[in-house]
Amino acid sequence: MRTIHIAASREYDVHIGPGLLDELGARAAQVLRGRNAVIVTDSNVAPLYLDRALASMRAAGFTAEGYVIPAGEASKCGTTYLNLVNDLAERRLTRADGLIALGGGVVGDLTGFAAATYMRGVGLIQVPTTLLACVDSSVGGKTAIDLPAGKNLCGAFYQPWLVLCDPETIGSLPDSVLSDGCAEVIKYGMLGDGKLLHSLLDTHIKDQMEAVIARCVEMKRDVVEGDEFDTGRRQLLNLGHTFAHSIEKLSGYAIPHGSAVAIGMMRITRAAVRKGLCPQDCLDVLQALLKKYNLPLETQYSPEALADVALSDKKRKGDTLTLVVPCAYGESALRPVPVAELADWARSGLDA
Ligand code: GLY
Repeated sequence: MRTIHIAASREYDVHIGPGLLDELGARAAQVLRGRNAVIVTDSNVAPLYLDRALASMRAAGFTAEGYVIPAGEASKCGTTYLNLVNDLAERRLTRADGLIALGGGVVGDLTGFAAATYMRGVGLIQVPTTLLACVDSSVGGKTAIDLPAGKNLCGAFYQPWLVLCDPETIGSLPDSVLSDGCAEVIKYGMLGDGKLLHSLLDTHIKDQMEAVIARCVEMKRDVVEGDEFDTGRRQLLNLGHTFAHSIEKLSGYAIPHGSAVAIGMMRITRAAVRKGLCPQDCLDVLQALLKKYNLPLETQYSPEALADVALSDKKRKGDTLTLVVPCAYGESALRPVPVAELADWARSGLDA
């Protein structure tokens, strides 16, 4: 097992190792004061892991119940959120008690936001069961629901008490869900670790899962500890995300987050190469990795549509939006861009 300690406004450990799901109860007992817990999960994950998680909690002395939401981004909405917090109130969950997020990014973001706001804050343990959630959404305290105007527009920074990543849960998920997470892993390489890019090319991620998750969490720790509230360097974690959020929204969330991030990274990297800001080998390696991990490279949405939807991006400051632009092999930089130039960036990154 590997452990990465995060020193943010709350300090907590991220444990990564096989079998951790069955240690949930014992480890929750170390960080939660109360002995009531609700395990929030979705209709895909519940049949696989909810009983094991409940058994582990109950064996450790918790009164634990499951709360199952329909799988999919549509559940990350105001209605599901209100239903959940009403359910917590009916169960008389107190501030000493806790929520366990057992699932991928949707479950983690929704449960985190409920934990941040129900009674102005209850305990939160993240148990990510997808690669994407292990390397990104379960760590760092971003919680949110989507609004009709855009993704993650209503949320809170709320660090968890504990994160348990059990790579065995990732192994049993469909390949398309694994690919989705690979996009975020490749993103870390593009941001600051050329060696990670090489190792993903040389060795399949399935053969180095624990090490790769740990490396990504370390990189996320370094960013979050320096800029927990996303006013500076943390924005680097949004490489590919400006156009990705547009693609997700335009598709009615039929295109999953990781696939959209893959397309968004291709678009911005190709544009950066054409503008003379990034060497060609970055684009070549990115393209090779996205192909290797079965991720898409292109979208049919027009540059104008991508730019238009991106105008509701949280990173927009008046007439400027900060893009994350690859600038060297394993290195990216923040670049403020006038919103009037966004469509040109989306157009420049089109496959010729
Ligand atoms: N997912 C980007 C961040 O945590 O800042």
